[in-house]
Amino acid sequence: MKPPVILEHIQLESEALGFQMVSDPLTGSLLKTLAASKPGGTFLELGTGTGVSAAWLLDGMDEDSQLISIENDATVASVAKKYLGHDKRVKFQIEDAAFWLNQVMNQKFDLIFADAWVGKYSYLEQALGLLKPGGLYVVDDMLPQPNWPSVDHVSKVNELVSILENTEDLVMTKINWSSGIVIATKVKR
Ligand SMILES: C[S@@+](CC[C@H](N)C(=O)[O-])C[C@H]1O[C@@H](n2cnc3c(N)ncnc32)[C@H](O)[C@@H]1O
Repeated sequence: MKPPVILEHIQLESEALGFQMVSDPLTGSLLKTLAASKPGGTFLELGTGTGVSAAWLLDGMDEDSQLISIENDATVASVAKKYLGHDKRVKFQIEDAAFWLNQVMNQKFDLIFADAWVGKYSYLEQALGLLKPGGLYVVDDMLPQPNWPSVDHVSKVNELVSILENTEDLVMTKINWSSGIVIATKVKR
């Protein structure tokens, strides 16, 4: 793996903040690889956190690509802004992702990394509706994780997988690797 140079700093600050929800390096490497497959691409991240996954995405994106990353916690997002905010390809938005999804218009994405509850376990239809044909919807933490909410999360995960499997215009794969990844591609039906 070739991690983004800035990652070490972001990880140190994440630890200092006690922010433990950062993406695993394998997921990061996958995101970078997928980002590189979309030259001039438009990317959306729901749940910036401290910017670990955004750093990987930006590392894979070419100069003509754009990333919008949404986070409702200004404290954790300040780490992402500090280390990545100078990059013209990224726009960090401090906002409730549900509010953002409800009002977004005329924007479509080549890749959506849905890494918050919103866009994954709620507002899924809105998120999927933003994919371009050929666009990728990516989620991680689909295998049991120490930080999963204790109450009934397995059934939430199973429900999400089932919806994605049964959505007509998606072609999806479940990957038993890293923290558990699902990738779905939007197709024309
Ligand atoms: C799993 S963490 C994101 C980690 C980050 N993507 C990474 O890989 O390092 C989920 C993030 O979603 C944020 N979040 C939760 N609910 C949200 C909402 N409704 N709108 C925006 N962000 C939200 C949390 O504050 C948290 O930082």
